[in-house]
Amino acid sequence: MCGIMAYLGNQKAAPIILEGLKRLEYRGYDSAGMVMIPDDSLVLFKKKGKVSQLEAAMKDHQPKATIGMGHTRWATHGVPDDINAHPHITHSGRLAIIHNGIVENYSELKTALLKEGYTFKSETDTEVFGNLVDYYMHRDETSLEIAMSKALKKIHGAYAFVMMDRQDPDRLIVAKRQSPIVIGIGDEEFFVASDATPIIQHTNKVIYLEDNEIAVIDRSQGLIIKNYDNRVLSKEVHQLDLKLEELEKGGYEHFMLKEIYNQPQSISDCMRGRVNSDESWIVLGGLKSSLDKILDCRRIVMIGCGTSWHSALIGEYLFEDLARISTEVEYASEFRYRNPVIDSNDVAIVISQSGETIDTLAAAELAKSRGAFVYGVVNVVGSSIARMTDSGSYIHAGPEIGVASTKAFTGQVTLLTLMALMLGRKKGNISQKTYKKLISELEKIPSYVSEVLELTEQIKYIASEIKDCPNALYLGRGYNFPVALEGALKLKEISYIHAEGYPAAEMKHGPIALIDENMPVIVIATNGSDYDKVVNNIQEVKSRKAKIIAIVNRGDHVVKGLADHVIEVPETLDPLTPLVSVIPLQLLSYYVAVMRNCNVDQPRNLAKSVTVE
Ligand code: M6R
Repeated sequence: MCGIMAYLGNQKAAPIILEGLKRLEYRGYDSAGMVMIPDDSLVLFKKKGKVSQLEAAMKDHQPKATIGMGHTRWATHGVPDDINAHPHITHSGRLAIIHNGIVENYSELKTALLKEGYTFKSETDTEVFGNLVDYYMHRDETSLEIAMSKALKKIHGAYAFVMMDRQDPDRLIVAKRQSPIVIGIGDEEFFVASDATPIIQHTNKVIYLEDNEIAVIDRSQGLIIKNYDNRVLSKEVHQLDLKLEELEKGGYEHFMLKEIYNQPQSISDCMRGRVNSDESWIVLGGLKSSLDKILDCRRIVMIGCGTSWHSALIGEYLFEDLARISTEVEYASEFRYRNPVIDSNDVAIVISQSGETIDTLAAAELAKSRGAFVYGVVNVVGSSIARMTDSGSYIHAGPEIGVASTKAFTGQVTLLTLMALMLGRKKGNISQKTYKKLISELEKIPSYVSEVLELTEQIKYIASEIKDCPNALYLGRGYNFPVALEGALKLKEISYIHAEGYPAAEMKHGPIALIDENMPVIVIATNGSDYDKVVNNIQEVKSRKAKIIAIVNRGDHVVKGLADHVIEVPETLDPLTPLVSVIPLQLLSYYVAVMRNCNVDQPRNLAKSVTVE
């Protein structure tokens, strides 16, 4: 959460930073700001709202500075307004700071600084840290870098900080713990950002800053990375493999729509080189090298948040059904704080699109510290989770920019399916015949998804019918239960309609009381997954006069006779069903949100990467 972008080089900094902030806006979009040092003064711009509003405020006022830093905010401490927007200037007026993360002990530090005569303009924890650095710098008459190292030792929490000193317009100082920072290395210029997306158009050479490291970026000395004890570290330079067009909307109205339509491709990309139906094999490099570890484990714990947690639930069904390995699913935020029983007999599979979700990262670290083997299922290459795991597989979905996760979900489910099949076959739980059948059906999934995408007009019509409902209920059983949860999450996060997902049979234990003629009930009733039982549940809903929208397989007549609308999708094997049945739910929530004039790609209060607790 929050996007950081800084520049030091020979070009005018402002346009580079503005462009970078636009790419990072998915990380937070309630206010934005920028500071530059054109001579020996700090020139500051801050604006509540989007980066475009900052850009408008800066129009005709952009200084020629070649050093600067900008920020797009997702508010934690203090409401979104011009004052709480970053950057912040410290009490002495000498230093500027931007921050992604939370300084947890800011309150006690603030009290101490107030006693020293420091004053504060904002309500943020960031300004407190900035003033602490300012305090050490003046008290000890030392450099920004040394003062920052001292202050870093006094704080708890997660952070990526960038600071500048107006008396030293040739230096940026960057520090990190838990919040991501990537440094791009150009030709006598440097780019600092929360992720690689704003860097790729300038250079493909990057360094990932690790926890408890400080980067000193100096116009004449270049990039020096140290630990907090001032020891210089040597770092690997990585080559980015990212295409600029992947970061554009490519003619679609929203990133989310582009990403929904990209799924036939992204699912294929996830399988490319890993599956061969003619010869009946699946090979995942990361899994192959850790096969014994996983086959011998006592149980698997799958960990994630939000949509990634839903993928984990499907993973549990797949791993227990196909590989017969005991599997549990955990919310990362609960797992990390509840003293879980996990040790070297266990394997943790951590699932994250961004690879930066702070709770998932912390849960993975906890599992590792207790001796568990940690396997990552991640989309963003080089992200923090990808770097800390013992082994793992990328889902290769490409950049997902819409806040609502779509292609990452199907990528995660595809990858977990490949893992479950590979493990199941190795364990001898799946016969060669079933294995072959599942693999060849899996290869057809991208074309099934394309067929569902052709149902857009029908789904738009259904969206127009339910767009004004205040509530919605999603039901599914078996493999489609997590899909119901995912459908409900999609609807609530982008259209602000209250929605709940339930295992269809659980409805009778409470939620049925909510049902009346105003409640749309979206039921996934594909063949398999206890079809007959789901039909019974539909009958129960119908008796309470709900408006029923059912996802069924082509040719279904039973549900057609009961539902108000049926969306017919191609039939596939039960374990593969989620990859098809989720697509109409993604489209439905998209069109409802569009019809309600919601900001689809940047829904209120949300951010793409949740890098604060
Ligand atoms: O990047 P991650 O997969 O770790 O993110 C986890 C959740 O924050 C994410 O899935 C969130 O729930 C999405 N907005 C759902 O669409």
